[in-house]
Amino acid sequence: MNIVLMGLPGAGKGTQADQIVDKYKIPHISTGDMFRAAIKNGTELGLEAKSYMDQGELVPDEVTIGIVRERLSKDDCSNGFLLDGFPRTVAQAAALDQLLADLGKNIDYVLNIKVDYDKLVERLTGRWICRDCGTAYHTIFNPPAVEGKCDKDGGELYQRDDDKPETVKNRLDVNMKQTQPLLDFYGQKGVLEDINGQQDIKKVFVDIDDLLGGLR
Ligand code: AP5
Ligand code: ZN
Repeated sequence: MNIVLMGLPGAGKGTQADQIVDKYKIPHISTGDMFRAAIKNGTELGLEAKSYMDQGELVPDEVTIGIVRERLSKDDCSNGFLLDGFPRTVAQAAALDQLLADLGKNIDYVLNIKVDYDKLVERLTGRWICRDCGTAYHTIFNPPAVEGKCDKDGGELYQRDDDKPETVKNRLDVNMKQTQPLLDFYGQKGVLEDINGQQDIKKVFVDIDDLLGGLR
């Protein structure tokens, strides 16, 4: 099953992706996670990505397309994949089409998780992430059992640099500008499904699972 997960920053892509890949046994490909790993490892890619991410801007298309091309060519993608946060521009979507055509694959579903602007700000500014496994928590909506510690592995929780209030606004603005043309692109292909992301985390997953169940 080949899935693309779309949604503005804070819509819950990462939160839902964890559950989807767990159940459907497909690799989770998050460009944001790949850039953060590169930053942590101090690579050239990380240095370049950081300069954009810290401002809430998008990393240039050619860089982003390059890392996705490399990742999708790996063997573990042969039975499906979940793309999270890619594509984010029409140029990336067109490149993905070409790439999948070369690999003899196509997209089964594009899931668009929809959440109002004010809620997104609230979610991003209250988010805490596990340093060890990347699980996202929220001080109010999804708190860990023990403050500051991951439920799964006891890892330390931290706040992302780009979740600072001044960066959050630009991130949302930048992403909102790119989103509509992308929705039009996938709407025309007939693969786009809206998901109500304003429900609680479990209910959002029930809706996604019901939809994907048709492909099982
Ligand atoms: P990326 O890491 O992809 O970040 P993003 O799109 O900004 O999305 P987030 O990770 O912030 O949010 P999410 O939707 O995953 O929400 P989450 O589940 O954590 O990208 C970061 C940066 O990398 C970009 O700004 C860009 O610079 C660069 N980049 C990445 N991809 C790129 C691309 N393709 N092209 C160019 N540049 C790219 O949830 C958020 C919070 O809400 C959590 O605290 C969670 O616990 C809580 N929550 C989740 N669901 C619910 C719910 N249903 N109810 C209540 N709370 C909830
Ligand atoms: Zn953890």
